[in-house]
Amino acid sequence: MGLSKEKIENIMKHAVNSMPLSIITDENANVVFISRSYKELLGIYDDDYIGKPVLEIIPNSRIPYVLRTGNEIIGDIFVLKNQDLAFCNRILIKDDEGKVLGVLSTLTLGMDQVDAMSKTIEKLKNENLIYKSKIKKLRKEIYSIDSIASNSTSMQKLKNVVEKIADSPVSVLITGETGTGKEVFANAIHMMSGRYENKFVKINCAAIPKDLLESELFGYEDGAFSGAVKGGKIGKFELANGGTILLDEIGEMSLELQSKLLRVLQEREIERVGGLKTIKIDVRVISSTNQNIEELVRTGKFREDLYYRINVVELNIPPLRERYEDIPALCEIFIDKINRTHGLGISGIDVSALKLFRNYNWPGNIRELEHVIERASVMKKIGVLEVDDFEFLMKKIFKNGEPPAAAESPKTLDDIRDVAEKELIIKALLTSKGNKTKAAEALGINRSVLYDKMKKHGID
Ligand SMILES: Nc1ncnc2c1ncn2[C@@H]1O[C@H](COP(=O)(O)OP(=O)(O)OP(=O)(O)O)[C@@H](O)[C@H]1O
Ligand SMILES: [Mg+2]
Repeated sequence: MGLSKEKIENIMKHAVNSMPLSIITDENANVVFISRSYKELLGIYDDDYIGKPVLEIIPNSRIPYVLRTGNEIIGDIFVLKNQDLAFCNRILIKDDEGKVLGVLSTLTLGMDQVDAMSKTIEKLKNENLIYKSKIKKLRKEIYSIDSIASNSTSMQKLKNVVEKIADSPVSVLITGETGTGKEVFANAIHMMSGRYENKFVKINCAAIPKDLLESELFGYEDGAFSGAVKGGKIGKFELANGGTILLDEIGEMSLELQSKLLRVLQEREIERVGGLKTIKIDVRVISSTNQNIEELVRTGKFREDLYYRINVVELNIPPLRERYEDIPALCEIFIDKINRTHGLGISGIDVSALKLFRNYNWPGNIRELEHVIERASVMKKIGVLEVDDFEFLMKKIFKNGEPPAAAESPKTLDDIRDVAEKELIIKALLTSKGNKTKAAEALGINRSVLYDKMKKHGID
């Protein structure tokens, strides 16, 4: 046959050792052999077990039973030391005359169990897919345009523009004062575009030291500069590939970097700092700023050609003081959110408080409104928010300048009298919760005089 006796013996010896979970005993149930994998399972590392009764090593072994009865056991279910279930075959070893020499017991992990396991995995995979799609849907809802509260026509117009341009690749410049919702809009554009499954990457150009901004944006190769992370680093543009990048506070970018950015936007490829090769990128660019970029262009601080590149569509978000109509809806959103995060029971906000809000100019815009609602809610804990809960805001309104309608600082005695009069009338109206008879009484004037003065000061 061409096979040497030694070769056959060598293979046989190793074959036995390589058998899955197997044990061999002599006719008295003393252990003769345990295969490598079974030893590992049992935690046996030397040969001390040889000659020992099998029950000392495997207390629930049924080998003694097989020897006693002469009945082989095929397809038995056996509980392993680690509580796993296994299929077990216990076969009598006989010589040529049929004399029993011992037992060979082999175990395989139960197919039922494997089957059940794979079914469980399949079920979990499906559940995972369902949860993933639910999360995706929720994310879309949270960031979508519908989550942007708006009753004002100016906001409604902006939302209409967003719906039209979200799915096109055009660059968008979002301008507006701090806290007006520039990032909220940027997020909504991303979520409403076909890119929503890829990343939305935001970088604040003002928050990163000027000399590091380039490598943050475009990444760098190994050893590009001292202090660089070994192996290089991927930049925000690469990270956003297939998705959207928000270049926040773009007005803060140096002129040098502006020209590099312009090249990237024209060529649609980037070069890592210290790298030689170019990398193709497909990124939707949204920029935002609360600076007057046109002014920066005029004064030579911002490249005109870049300005036109990033500003294919401009969304200018009006400050809150120009859209008081949005306040009630915003309050509702914030009260709901604050109740959930702080575990409170605020049930709403009344007209007296909403009126007060109309007399404030909200320099911090929607962010400030949220903080104001939060502060009052945390103090109140339960019930409807009323004007009295905003004492802290009243102080601000009447200390740091008067309501927006009377913006000029008073110069003449008449001016001062006017401002003081307006302030008193507003306070009285707020305290009387809009009841004009009571307010007039408190001011010691009659109702019609109050009406005249309200008209004069533009108080509604
Ligand atoms: N229309 C809106 N509906 C609900 N929440 C809003 C709305 N607009 C803004 N917000 C909330 O107001 C806060 C400020 O919004 P955002 O961060 O988008 O402002 P921003 O214009 O980017 O401000 P900054 O210029 O300071 O970066 C956030 O908490 C945001 O969730
Ligand atoms: Mg922002």
